[in-house]
Amino acid sequence: MSFRLFVSLLVFTGTAFNFSRAQTTNPVPTLQIKADQVVAKASPTLYGLMTEEINYSYEGGLYGELIRNRTFKANPTNAVYWSTVGNGSISLDPATPLNDALNTSLKLDATAATKDSPAGIANGGYWGIPVKPNTTYRVSFYAKAASGFTGALTAAITSTDGKTLFAGADVAGITGDWKKYEVTLTTKSAEPLKDNQFTITTTSPGTIWFQQVSLFPPTFNNRPNGNRPDIMQLLADMKPAFLRFPGGNYLEGNTIETRFNWKNTVGPVEQRPGHLDDGWGYWSTDGMGLLEFLEWCEDLKMQPLLAVYAGYSMRQAHVAPGADLEPYVQDALDEIEYVTGDVNTKWGAQRAKDGHPAPFPLTYIEVGNEDNFDRTGSYDARYTQFYDAIKAKHPNLQIIATTRVTTRTPDLTDEHLYPNSEGAMEARAHEFDNHVRTGPKIFVGEWATRVGAPTPNMAGALGDAAWMAGMERNSDIVLMASYAPLFVNVSRPNRGAGGSMQWPTDLIGYDALTSYGSPSYYAQQMFSTHHGDVILAMSATDIPVKAGPAPARRGGATNQPAATTPQLPALFSSVTRDSSSGMIYVKVVNTLGSPQPVKVEISGVASVAPDGDAVVMNANTPDDTNTITDPTHVAPVTEKVTGLGADFTREFPPYSITILELKAK
Ligand code: AHR
Repeated sequence: MSFRLFVSLLVFTGTAFNFSRAQTTNPVPTLQIKADQVVAKASPTLYGLMTEEINYSYEGGLYGELIRNRTFKANPTNAVYWSTVGNGSISLDPATPLNDALNTSLKLDATAATKDSPAGIANGGYWGIPVKPNTTYRVSFYAKAASGFTGALTAAITSTDGKTLFAGADVAGITGDWKKYEVTLTTKSAEPLKDNQFTITTTSPGTIWFQQVSLFPPTFNNRPNGNRPDIMQLLADMKPAFLRFPGGNYLEGNTIETRFNWKNTVGPVEQRPGHLDDGWGYWSTDGMGLLEFLEWCEDLKMQPLLAVYAGYSMRQAHVAPGADLEPYVQDALDEIEYVTGDVNTKWGAQRAKDGHPAPFPLTYIEVGNEDNFDRTGSYDARYTQFYDAIKAKHPNLQIIATTRVTTRTPDLTDEHLYPNSEGAMEARAHEFDNHVRTGPKIFVGEWATRVGAPTPNMAGALGDAAWMAGMERNSDIVLMASYAPLFVNVSRPNRGAGGSMQWPTDLIGYDALTSYGSPSYYAQQMFSTHHGDVILAMSATDIPVKAGPAPARRGGATNQPAATTPQLPALFSSVTRDSSSGMIYVKVVNTLGSPQPVKVEISGVASVAPDGDAVVMNANTPDDTNTITDPTHVAPVTEKVTGLGADFTREFPPYSITILELKAK
């Protein structure tokens, strides 16, 4: 239930908010828009993506590979995620490596195989192998056989019990030397299912070794080592301006050895050793390597925001600034050359050899991740060393700091926030309104209202939308922002052993077969696709208020009474215009459970057409959400609106996010 209270007037460069009390008849909240007063240019790069290997984001997620533990390195002693078919037995064989990178193999003892009783290996994928009708899957693997093996191998996708064959193909000519074999499997009409397995079997007795066993479905833009089309499409629909990669904690690792060591992630996939993503607790084959991140950017027309390892890993492993740090600085310079160098440079030539002769555009480099956790306080000096070396070679690159530095002025500073209630997020929605306009620009490189698991619910989306309205109003200083984490595999949404989720509240969920956007995903899509290029002066008066969130308790002292909760505005807004079309976008977030009339007064325009569109997302309760089986329970709808003009009143539904598209002249 809302109540109104006269609260202070917030004024910011032409934007004013006045939260008001309380007369016998509640005054109608009013947005006064001065369309002839441009406060600032809206940052065209405001809405982007942040990504890292967490929650099975690539392995078991975006990266198309369907085989789990394809290189047998996920566990040093057991062939985890592999099982046997028939009378076969399997073991890891480090004495028979494919090469130095893939320095073990899977040995299949199929000496008991017969025509009636094939023996082989099976893999259940990442909680299933998806089968879709009339679809071609690409199989590849390295194999060799002990002398005496003369038979063929059969690659197949079958139901988990092996009783239903969806597609199969034979591979003959296995020799005593490692060789790559490739074959395609095409399904017929079939109901989409995920409870399946991939098998390689033989009816001939013998011993066979395998490495790099791979099964790819069709990929976005048909990239050979590419991404899942459904998830890529969800991202494309957000029209993101940039991609921050490769982390996050994944960039740093727990130790220096387990950092994202980019040089191990480029080149042929069978030459990539992979590494333990110990920040999040599972193996990464690095099939999603530096080039794949860049091609992902290219496919979605995003600019890369490249985070380079800065000599600090999460368990306080840290490289002292100075001579010890130099190799890491050089690694970053090499990485930048791999991204941007022409084919006559060493690393540009490597990129061309890897299949991409054209350099990629690059404007933003981030030095490290969350270096405020470095208890030695060395970041200032480490940042300076990277900054000087990068600027000397690439003066136009914008260099982002992950925490406060004093010895150089960063181009941007990355700020992260993860409030654990919508109220806590909404309480911060005005924090940039009075922010100093001098000093480094702001990159909100990770943010989310952490309400809802595995993906946020409508309450989360309302907190997010309030926060986005605040960033958008202030996008003269908040140049870029990216929600995190982006992905979660929802097959086993728990954080324990065997779980598919390490961090609850993630923007996009999926299993092996399908994917969905959360209400927060749709909120971002709404904002990002109704961006505008200028911020218009706006004042808000008589905004209703509600009780704020209980303050976070410290030290577990839960028996103490809650301090007085501050009051919060219950409506949030932002107004931008697209100069090319003249369209004015009025975004209104109603966090209350009751409809809210709002008066909109627009000055400085010749006219506003009476008809327009409203994009509205609302829910019956803040707990409403989307799931893998009900993927669009909460989703925006576009409706025709009449009665618009330079002065109109509209009722905004309970728990809603609305964007009014006003045709102004
Ligand atoms: O987004 C999850 C994690 O939160 C990121 O890896 C890290 O940067 C932050 O602490």
